[in-house]
Amino acid sequence: MGTASRPVVIAGNWKMHMTCAEARSFASQFLPLVASTPGDRTIVLAPPFTALEAVRQAVVGSAVTLASQNVHWEGNGAFTGEISTRMLEEHGVAYAIVGHSEPRKYFSESDEQINLRARAAQAGGLIPILCVGESDEQRSSGDTERVIRRQVEQGFDGIDPARLVVAYEPIWAIGTGKTCAASEANRICGLIRSWVGHPDLTVQYGGSVKPDNIDEIMAQSDIDGVLVGGASLEAQSFARIVNYQPFPAA
Ligand code: 13P
Repeated sequence: MGTASRPVVIAGNWKMHMTCAEARSFASQFLPLVASTPGDRTIVLAPPFTALEAVRQAVVGSAVTLASQNVHWEGNGAFTGEISTRMLEEHGVAYAIVGHSEPRKYFSESDEQINLRARAAQAGGLIPILCVGESDEQRSSGDTERVIRRQVEQGFDGIDPARLVVAYEPIWAIGTGKTCAASEANRICGLIRSWVGHPDLTVQYGGSVKPDNIDEIMAQSDIDGVLVGGASLEAQSFARIVNYQPFPAA
């Protein structure tokens, strides 16, 4: 739920969705719905690279901040398909998602590469949103904590925790409709913060976050925001997530 020293960050990861025209249409519907959102909630959109500029122009004067879905560690060079912090800066990007389970799975990204991406993001003035999480199989075999701890230890080397957001995204909950129980997500987010060793670290939960579970998720003491996939593609649904209403403390 965030605290005075742990900002709330609600981010929409559009993945490989949205043309420029679709992104503009989203923005025109979404912005009026978040015009009165409390200012202590940071609203982030991560469009595909091709729609970054369209979204930047559409959100001028609003509270919406931009993220990229990836970043390379070199400033330029022969790295087909990659993008650098310098290129992202031109489009007003403030955050960079790194270590998402999709590139980890489909492109065999290693913790070492993810660490290079995160370090480059910070060196270039971006805040990495560093994703960690276990697979179904790893959870079933009791390996959840060991896997995440390894991702934290290897992926976070040399990273300044004061300029970092971590997203706990259990792989089995991504795009499946199976949300991790809020209390379990809370437990893992708390463990991640303790392993990183920085009490003010913002830790998000991600994986099938929807309008109907956001209030319970954001009521958890160790969850400071969410990283949303599918439900961030529709203006009404993402606005409801941004405008969450945490349950009062029991
Ligand atoms: P879903 O919200 O669609 O499960 O995706 C989560 C995610 O991967 C965000 O990065």
